Amino acid sequence: MNACFRSLIIVSIALFIGSCNKPVSFKKDINPILVANCLSCHDGSGEGSSTSGFSVQTYANIMKGTKFGPVILPGSSESSTLFRLIAHKVDEAIQMPPHHEGAQAEGRSEPLTEKQIEFIQRWIDEGAKDN
Ligand code: HEC
Repeated sequence: MNACFRSLIIVSIALFIGSCNKPVSFKKDINPILVANCLSCHDGSGEGSSTSGFSVQTYANIMKGTKFGPVILPGSSESSTLFRLIAHKVDEAIQMPPHHEGAQAEGRSEPLTEKQIEFIQRWIDEGAKDN
């Protein structure tokens, strides 16, 4: 194989890998997940907001966290309360969305899918930007 052809292949592979690892977008990927799964309770006045103070209405609300402080540590999903709550890393009694019967009956308590959890993890690890 000549050198020129070899470098063409290497560049193609690099481009291919690069395009698979596009940064996660808050507006396109993350916000829709939070709106569909969290907003019903965390809308500034709902049951989740009134108990914890946490609202997912805007990026600023999300980064502000609960009345006790932030739930996202940009760059570290493992240290982020929000990620731990959705990724089955905490006791069932406090995971989000909640699995309590009232919420389940209203269809508001489906756990997020693996894919959605992974998106949120990557978004936090990439710096939780307003992108
Ligand atoms: C059925 C209503 C409901 C839904 C849906 C819901 N939550 Fe909650 N959330 C609550 C309630 C109630 C609390 C307060 C729990 C407490 O303090 O015991 C809470 C608390 C929280 C907290 C604060 C926890 C803490 O340590 O203080 C975070 C963060 C949170 N929710 C994130 C989410 C996310 C992210 C989603 C969507 C994936 C979500 N919630 C969906 C009801 C809900």
